[in-house]
Amino acid sequence: MNLLYRAIFCALLFFQCKQKQPVPDTVSETNVKVLNFWSGGVTSTSIKITARFSAATKAQVLVSNDSVDFSKAIASRIKLIKESEHYFGSFSIKNLEPNTNYYYHFKNGKTLDTTTHGRFKTLNTVPFSYKIAFASCGRTGSESNIYTTIKNEEPLLYIITGDLHYGDVNKNCDTQYAENITKVLNSKTQADLYSHIPIAYIWDDHDFGDGNSSKNTVCKEQAKEAYRRYVPSYPTVFENPRMPLSQSFIIGRVRFLLTDLRSEKSPPEYDTTCQKTKQGSNFGNKEHLDWFKKELLDAKNTNQVVIWVSGIPFINHPGGPNYECDEDDDWGGYPEERKELSNFIKKHQIPISIISGDAHMVAIDDGANSDYADKGGAPIPVFQAGPLDQKPSYKGGPYSHGYSAISGQYGIVEVVDNGKEDICFIWTAKNKNNEVVLNHKGNPITYKFCQSVIDVLK
Ligand SMILES: [Fe+2]
Repeated sequence: MNLLYRAIFCALLFFQCKQKQPVPDTVSETNVKVLNFWSGGVTSTSIKITARFSAATKAQVLVSNDSVDFSKAIASRIKLIKESEHYFGSFSIKNLEPNTNYYYHFKNGKTLDTTTHGRFKTLNTVPFSYKIAFASCGRTGSESNIYTTIKNEEPLLYIITGDLHYGDVNKNCDTQYAENITKVLNSKTQADLYSHIPIAYIWDDHDFGDGNSSKNTVCKEQAKEAYRRYVPSYPTVFENPRMPLSQSFIIGRVRFLLTDLRSEKSPPEYDTTCQKTKQGSNFGNKEHLDWFKKELLDAKNTNQVVIWVSGIPFINHPGGPNYECDEDDDWGGYPEERKELSNFIKKHQIPISIISGDAHMVAIDDGANSDYADKGGAPIPVFQAGPLDQKPSYKGGPYSHGYSAISGQYGIVEVVDNGKEDICFIWTAKNKNNEVVLNHKGNPITYKFCQSVIDVLK
């Protein structure tokens, strides 16, 4: 259509012809709003904040140790917010003081927006005691008050052990991941939690791909891209985009290992009589597994204990209450890899515990049912927590301290560290009303234990 005809046509049918003008990426608008944000990757001197804006702009984050006075605030680099990235941007703030409460605002162009603000506390640099909350399995965009209950716990960190949403993305990958994370952050109760407490998050099946997802998931590459764009995470161990998104970070004398056991998961295969015809792997490749073992050793050699965020349940085996002969999702389907790790943990006497999600229940085992080393010797305490608001289920087990398969549950890990030989833990299963959860026998699901950071083999 030539220009004359087009002009006439558009004059007659203005609205139909009015084309949406792409917003130039360089435009800076004073009326641009920050719509969503959350923080994570907190250390003693730094934090990462990820936000979504209402339009393309140039934005930055200002961080102050005074909730009102931002005259001495530390500013992030200015970030270009683009339509092509669904108006999300990530900001890194460095040179913070340890063990300090901080407050932040966003700046669009030259305007400091004081109507939206977040807060966080940096980590201490010496051995110290603190509280972690963790949970999994919330409906997409859930407005449950369990998030408010978790916020009111005032943990130093909130660890999401998977199923942040139930997007089950398997088509329109890029758009779907953006929409799901937006729904999560649009939730008032979740937004309130995430604006107060930094997160650490590793996905499970429903927020990576669809149910029981693995490396065969259609949207795998876009899932990783979306994670890197939308999640304020700790640095991922591997820069290679084809590797999992596992992370390692240290708080006090505890080394947290967040393992991505989805994106390179290779499920086992069985014949029609439940005989295994192909061994599976949750880590997916040797490089990933070797990294994990090295982290265990490094923790041991630097007088740290390990909390392994496994995501999927560790305890499940033939004869267990929920074991099925063709297990292919939790560790029950991967006994070979689990035994290899258990033998390694036994050999090097690694002080370690596991926190997990996936199973829609809370459960604690003191190591009585989790020892998969040859002839025993690796009894690992295991703490399952969830579901935030999904329907309940009982998976794996048995669990020495019982379980509770009810919706609206989370876990609290209190680390008690006085800088001495032992680091102690108090585990408590809680419900959305901030009550201690009872197991199927009516006893509270709690567990206290200590682990030594002195190498007994030396
Ligand atoms: Fe789930």
